[in-house]
Formats: sequence, structure tokens, C-alpha cells
Amino acid sequence: MRVDILTLFPEMFAPLNQSIVGKAQEKGLVEIHTHDFRENASNKQRHVDDMPYGGGQGMLLMPQPIFDTMDKFPHENARVLLMDPAGKKFDQKMAEELSKEDQLVFICGHYEGYDERIKSVITDEVSLGDFVLTGGEVAANVMVDAVARLIPGVLGKQASYEDDSFSSGLLEYPQYTRPEDFRGMKVPEVLMSGHHENIRKWRLMESLRKTLERRPDLLEKYDANEEEIKILRDLRQSSKASDDVVE
Ligand SMILES: C[S@@+](CC[C@H](N)C(=O)[O-])C[C@H]1O[C@@H](n2cnc3c(N)ncnc32)[C@H](O)[C@@H]1O
Repeated sequence: MRVDILTLFPEMFAPLNQSIVGKAQEKGLVEIHTHDFRENASNKQRHVDDMPYGGGQGMLLMPQPIFDTMDKFPHENARVLLMDPAGKKFDQKMAEELSKEDQLVFICGHYEGYDERIKSVITDEVSLGDFVLTGGEVAANVMVDAVARLIPGVLGKQASYEDDSFSSGLLEYPQYTRPEDFRGMKVPEVLMSGHHENIRKWRLMESLRKTLERRPDLLEKYDANEEEIKILRDLRQSSKASDDVVE
């Protein structure tokens, strides 16, 4: 996958040269190009922002530096993502969809916002969440990381992400490593039994329990099978029974 990032702060993308995404770049699975669009500002002072027509507070990114930067690299079939708190909220489903693209372009804003005409070169407006950042760089770092790890070959085994929270539609079950007993906290016996079917059932139940307790909203969209429906019914009944005891 080719990733192009339009930014005023290319050095803010150094984290993507580390760890798993850094290795993915070394292996040629992801190619990241940052473009400092200030270099393409046509005015002498290299200004990229100006005051809004009609008045108001703050400065807006002008279209010219963005358009001229876009003209400098190929992006015919790319998804062009504008970092914007008013955009569609980024999630695992979007990360999975974007990981199948050949090219992603990220446009990172700063200042109060954008000249609306910049939106004519984009395909998606994307938000990291319901909060306002100082610029789009942190959001784009997060999105590139989340997307890149889903590209085949980036993680060791495909299973490494298929069990992840949100990938299956559920939160991930609890996990343990050595030692068996750490300061009196013991690893559940079933995980050391070597009985694959019992381990699978335990993980499924814990995954459903965690999702029910922490993110019941995910279950509303989840297409549960018969086994899962039964587990969820039992979990709801036992939680109701313990609520009744407390009352
Ligand atoms: C200070 S913000 C501008 C906020 C804008 N005035 C508004 O109310 O929507 C500057 C830039 O940071 C980026 N940004 C801020 N919050 C973001 C978020 N939640 N997700 C993605 N990008 C964000 C966008 O590129 C935005 O143009």
C-alpha cells in the first residue's frame, strides 16, 4: 500500500518508522510519503492560511497549497481522507475497509479549519473521535497504524488480528502467560488443560461477558449464532440473579 500524507509537520510521522509499521515499510508492504504542503505555497511568505470571508475567528487552510501538492504525486484511484472532527468516526470496520485499498492520502488540517473547496479533492472526511485536536497529524498517525497492521504479511499470523477486540465484533477475552501463579493470582485451569474445545468455549464466554459488561452497544450490531445466544442468555440471567441478591 502507498500512503501519502499532506502535512505542515512531516516530523510528526516519525513514530511510523518504528516497530511493526516501520518493519512493514522495510519489507515494502507499506510505502509512506510525507508532503510538506508549505513548500508548495505560491506566495513569497509561504503562507498556507488566510482569514475567513465573512469574518470570524481563526485562520483557514487555503486551497492552493493543497491542490498543488496533490498535483505532484499520482493518486488517480486513491482514497483521499480529510482529517476532520466533523467527519465519519474512524473504527475497526473502516480500518479493515481501508486496508484493502492500494493507496491512501491523508490531509492533515491545522488552524480553525479548511477552505470548503479543498473538499472537492477528497473522498472521505474522517474523525478520530468526538474531541478536537490541534491538528490532523495525531489522527493520521493512529489511522495509518490501525490500517497498516491489517495488511496481509504485516503481522506474523493472520490470527493475530482476527481475535482482536472489534475485529470479530466482540471485545477480546482475557489472556495469561507464565507464571501459572503470580502473587496468588492463578491462571484459569481450563487454559492449562490442553483441551482445545473447552478453551474455545471459555474464551467465547469471556469475550461475550466482557462485551456485555463494557460495550453492550456492540452486541446490538453483532450477529450471534445459536451457541452465543445461549451463552448471552445465561450471562444475562446470572447478572440479573446477582442484582436481585444485592437488592
Ligand atoms: C483545531 S482543529 C479545527 C477544529 C474546527 N474548528 C472544528 O470545530 O471542527 C484543527 C485540525 O485538527 C484536525 N482535527 C482536530 N480534531 C480532529 C479529530 N477529532 N479527528 C481528526 N482530525 C482532527 C483537523 O484536521 C482540523 O482541521
